[in-house]
Amino acid sequence: MSRTLVKDALNATAPLDVVFLQGWVRTRRDAKAFSFVEVNDGSCLKGIQVIANATLLNYETEIARAHTGASIEVRGKLVPSQGQGQKWEVVADTFKVIGEADATYPLQKKGHTLEFLREIAHLRPRSNLFGAVFRVRSRLAFAIHEFFQSRGFCHIHTPIITANDCEGAGELFRVTTLDPSHPPMTEEGDVDFKRDFFAKKSYLTVSGQLEGEIFACALSNIYTFGPTFRAENSNTSRHAAEFWMVEPEMAFCDLQGDMTLAEEFVQHLIRDAKQHCADDLEFFGKFVDKELIARLDFVLERPFQRCSYTEAIAILEQSGKAWEHPVQWGENLQSEHERFLAEEHFKCPVTVYNYPRTLKPFYMRVNDDGKTVAAMDLLVPGIGEIIGGSQREERLDRLDARIDELGLSKHDYAWYRDLRRYGTTPHAGFGLGFERAILYATGIDNIRDVIPFPRAPRQAEF
Ligand code: 4AD
Ligand code: MG
Repeated sequence: MSRTLVKDALNATAPLDVVFLQGWVRTRRDAKAFSFVEVNDGSCLKGIQVIANATLLNYETEIARAHTGASIEVRGKLVPSQGQGQKWEVVADTFKVIGEADATYPLQKKGHTLEFLREIAHLRPRSNLFGAVFRVRSRLAFAIHEFFQSRGFCHIHTPIITANDCEGAGELFRVTTLDPSHPPMTEEGDVDFKRDFFAKKSYLTVSGQLEGEIFACALSNIYTFGPTFRAENSNTSRHAAEFWMVEPEMAFCDLQGDMTLAEEFVQHLIRDAKQHCADDLEFFGKFVDKELIARLDFVLERPFQRCSYTEAIAILEQSGKAWEHPVQWGENLQSEHERFLAEEHFKCPVTVYNYPRTLKPFYMRVNDDGKTVAAMDLLVPGIGEIIGGSQREERLDRLDARIDELGLSKHDYAWYRDLRRYGTTPHAGFGLGFERAILYATGIDNIRDVIPFPRAPRQAEF
């Protein structure tokens, strides 16, 4: 007998003679002549109410075993519900417990802290909140592909193991097969990575961008979407050691085109979530962030703002705020500054562009003033940066000057330089932190709660 998902049962347009549910017991209430059992199978937020009449042959034995958390199978009829707040319920013809759950099942009642639920990451997907988070995550992943595919972008699988440090921040996890207690040594007394698996120092990638550029300079519009890794020792609610990044790259595109795509992309994701995850978002709006729905509507209705880094510094200087980190042209915008711009000054998503050259990686295109690069960060209220991108330096002489300035090796970047030697073209792209986008769409506060198994300093359980 084929399975009826709870979602399909709840969306039925007419009663059904036979439905076959498989799921987990959320709650059970026993009355004299029957029991109410709420079944959830994760296909949607809501569960469906099953009525098990005492006339069922196995009522005494089976229902008594159907505790919260148990897995069950129910065959029955879908009928209009007598109760409030639900259209349909199922009157059971057969009721079977597949796997019991005893009183030690941790999700007995509501009101667990998120910290506690993180410790039981193997069970938390069965809670309302985490079911909703991971349905939204799945939908948004699909919406990302849809957005780029419908615009003719080609999906490129860039490598996870790489020898380059794209961002130049040195936050790399090393990939090696050398024995840490007896590594081969050179005559100079250094570890001899020539004898390592890849015959050179290699790492987990921090970004697929550089390889993405290779393909943009051939297929014009591409995107990568995959896991990226950063060994930043920052224990914040916005940073994970393993996170997913979406990186489009476009040939014959400048910073303006890049910013426009980024804005349309964020709007597309919000619109899609609102359309396809309405129940889940309503749940977040009720229990996680009361402002959520209004904020998402606002994002769709109003154009995003743009302001240059230099303007942003002026705004921050004139704000009259006492900053923890000093505001000065040439210094990085800290989280408190980013959030002030988005939350208090512009009160909407804002793209800050043309950052000081000295703050940014080697690949960003130097502007005519020589002091700034064509970089952009998209900041959103509540989170700060969710997108970082730039127009790339397509002029070989300028690129070489930057490679020298930063003490990098032209030899290491020979292939990257070749893209500028043969048929170079202006090109641009950006990276969206997928988890940060999910935080934004759901109102959830901590990145550890929007990735199935978070990786952070001293944390690699499961
Ligand atoms: O600004 P980032 O470092 O940019 C790049 O990596 C470029 N190569 C992207 C490109 O132009 N193709 O990272 C991009 C985004 C950030 O805006 C942020 O949303 C997210 O990735 N991000 C993180 N998300 C979670 N945990 C971390 N540790 C993150 N670091 C960056
Ligand atoms: Mg950035």
